[in-house]
Amino acid sequence: MTDTELDLLVLGSGVAGLSAAVRAADTHKMRVGVLTKGELPQATTRWAQGGVAAVLGGDPDSTDLHLADTLKAGAGLCDIEAVRVLVDEGPLRVNELISLGAIFDRDTHGQLELAREGGHSLARIVHAGGSQTGAEVERALVEAVQLTMAAIHEHAFALELIVEAGRCRGVTARFPDGSVHEVRATNVLVTTGGAGQLYAVTTNPLEATGDGIAMALRAGVAVADIEFTQFHPTALSVEAMPRPLLTEALRGHGALLRDTTGERFVDELQPRDVVSRAETRRMLELGADHVFLDATGLESFDTRFPNIAKELRAVGLDPAKDWLPVAPAAHYTCGGIVTDLRGASSLPGLWAAGEASCSGVHGANRLASNSLLEGMVFGPRAVEAIEAGASGPEASGAMRTVLGMDPDLPDQVPAGVIGGRFVHLEPIETADGPTEDPAALRNQMQRELTAHAGVLRDASSLDQAAKVVADVLAAPRADTVADHEVRNLATVARAAVDAARRREESRGAHTRDDFPETSVDFAHRIVFA
Ligand code: SIN
Repeated sequence: MTDTELDLLVLGSGVAGLSAAVRAADTHKMRVGVLTKGELPQATTRWAQGGVAAVLGGDPDSTDLHLADTLKAGAGLCDIEAVRVLVDEGPLRVNELISLGAIFDRDTHGQLELAREGGHSLARIVHAGGSQTGAEVERALVEAVQLTMAAIHEHAFALELIVEAGRCRGVTARFPDGSVHEVRATNVLVTTGGAGQLYAVTTNPLEATGDGIAMALRAGVAVADIEFTQFHPTALSVEAMPRPLLTEALRGHGALLRDTTGERFVDELQPRDVVSRAETRRMLELGADHVFLDATGLESFDTRFPNIAKELRAVGLDPAKDWLPVAPAAHYTCGGIVTDLRGASSLPGLWAAGEASCSGVHGANRLASNSLLEGMVFGPRAVEAIEAGASGPEASGAMRTVLGMDPDLPDQVPAGVIGGRFVHLEPIETADGPTEDPAALRNQMQRELTAHAGVLRDASSLDQAAKVVADVLAAPRADTVADHEVRNLATVARAAVDAARRREESRGAHTRDDFPETSVDFAHRIVFA
């Protein structure tokens, strides 16, 4: 592993990573390695339900409308150039996936069936198997990458970035036998997904521990917008980790939200932050731990959403007759490693795409079904930039926040560019003593963040969360994957809570009960570097 230098090492095996790996290995014949801590298909991508938002139908939809919807959801922090790239290149990438073998749902005329979801002004979501879009995208990409010469390393856990002479040269990784090796590469692409496991109530699988974002934070690579965890409004309210998701598309098809008295209380087609906030407030008012999704009026539930129907029946619910108990659950990490329009991070040789990145397309709140889209657009973009000989960041996209701007003078930000306030966190040293059970530490932090840094937060709840996170970071630990995951979660949590304390306003997915208004004083990113 130490003697062969790869052209590209991809960390993670979701839509962003595998789209990039296929393009690099197949189209550009690069020497590619894919390193993933689980098995290849075991990425968060496969859990994505709703679909891919892309303007594939004609009039009256347009990329301008998709752009406008995305900017509105992002609550003033989207980078318009990055969103433009997303909406313009999206349809091409969806068609490429279809050519690779992904099968999307079609109507009786053979046309792609388009669904509507919250925050979208029109039906523009392509989907597969009703609500199994991520699984189908992952299946097609896993098959495609297996046909390439890319070297696949499964059950290999990336520990730290190797940085030499100001450039990323690979990672150290722990292999299944417990040995640690360097995997060296001219370029490293981080596509390790988000950190939904920060919360006790989440739709994300156990593997979503923010590993790539945490490595970047430890290496001083710019990370931003990390206080914006998106909460999905309709996770089934059952004791399960992760919580089963009831796709946004159900509301797109007409399902209604009702409180525990049966009353409707929100426009179901608003973006997720609006709906999750309304639910949380109503639950607090009524002393309830859920509201209901009423899908009893939907036609053909079982044929349209077969996997959800199956999950519901498994817990004794019949969507044709029963209102379905739901509550908000942590769903998506809107921020991450800051990238330019080509996926370059602030560290030359290090690239990021998908949920691990902060490309600027989501701002303070991601629009539904823009996540698979981001992965399939920006993963290949990084490969094209590497192929063209680029190695470092340029002042485009979210990266303009980081490059060439005086952090103390946000008023000097040129028009159209989102400014940044820079934060440096000193590392917290690990204490000596007997190691603590990583599962217990993870549970403790999850409960704490859910209670005090969740849909609603305020200064005192965040102070409390910060203390627990600092204790978890300092806890003595062993050299196991579970211990490394907890450390990574706590590293991301520390930045997320710190940014949430500094952001004394409410914007997008970040709601401060003590600062309920959006403030022009905070129309900037909080960047850790
Ligand atoms: C959903 O189907 O509601 C989830 C899709 C997404 O996260 O955008």
